[in-house]
Amino acid sequence: MLDSWGIVESLEAVLTLLNAPITPTDQIMLMRFYPLIAAVAMTASLSGLAYAAEPTKAAKPDLAAGEAKATQVCAACHAADGSRGLTANPILQGQHPQYLAKQLEDFKSGKRKNAVMTGMAAPLSEADIRNVSAFYAGKKAKDGFATNKDLVGLGEKIYRGGIAAKGVPACAGCHSPNGAGIPAQYPRLGGQHAEYTKTQLTAFRQGERHNSAPMVTIAANLSDKEITALAD
Ligand code: HEC
Ligand code: HEC
Repeated sequence: MLDSWGIVESLEAVLTLLNAPITPTDQIMLMRFYPLIAAVAMTASLSGLAYAAEPTKAAKPDLAAGEAKATQVCAACHAADGSRGLTANPILQGQHPQYLAKQLEDFKSGKRKNAVMTGMAAPLSEADIRNVSAFYAGKKAKDGFATNKDLVGLGEKIYRGGIAAKGVPACAGCHSPNGAGIPAQYPRLGGQHAEYTKTQLTAFRQGERHNSAPMVTIAANLSDKEITALAD
């Protein structure tokens, strides 16, 4: 087992640093250490230690209220249980609740822009966001399947090892080796619609989606082919 608080404290220091306004060069430097940091964080939380970055929110989600909201409003596009709808609409089931809540807050505040979701998030109260996020997070995620045999090798290679020549870090370092993500910050990617993932990587690359400094920096260095391979 890991000897604990020293590591958790330094992890916190790094995460604090990441939230501070830092230059793209700093970010790339920090990202090189991410796989290590993420591994430590995962081991720390597995061994029952509090993950330093996890907010200690007291309010408990109301799952029945979350389900009611999801059924009335969100189901039209995200399916009643957050599973497969149209490929442009992200799968929400099994996503980390903190990530879902952050996205809804970002849509609401305009930090993340999308004509449809801005309108959907606007009327949600803090409690609505907490409840509906917990509802979708409580559903079990399903695996996806690669469809493009030619590109799957390239996608897997970048996912696991990054692209050293371009300073692109391994996606696995933050999104976990099997794509399940690492709560609370790093979303699940496994099983997500390839089309949605491709749109997001392209939006990060173009700076259209700019609610995550690391992802903007990483996507900036990906070609169309690399994005398609990763999404698949
Ligand atoms: C009319 C269709 C529609 C409805 C209704 C809708 N959404 Fe969405 N939602 C979308 C689309 C499209 C996106 C992808 C936006 C983008 O490309 O940035 C999205 C994205 C999201 C995301 C971001 C997921 C991620 O992986 O980053 C969350 C969270 C979300 N919706 C939650 C909700 C909730 C909760 C409701 C109900 C209150 C809702 N949506 C209703 C279409 C819809
Ligand atoms: C330094 C850590 C880090 C690395 C490395 C990283 N990501 Fe991310 N990624 C994040 C964070 C944090 C978010 C959530 C952004 C937010 O809060 O909106 C994210 C979000 C995403 C999303 C959006 C998910 C959704 O549901 O909308 C995609 C897609 C994604 N990353 C793909 C990748 C790919 C592909 C790679 C490798 C080329 C990669 N990431 C490497 C930290 C990272």
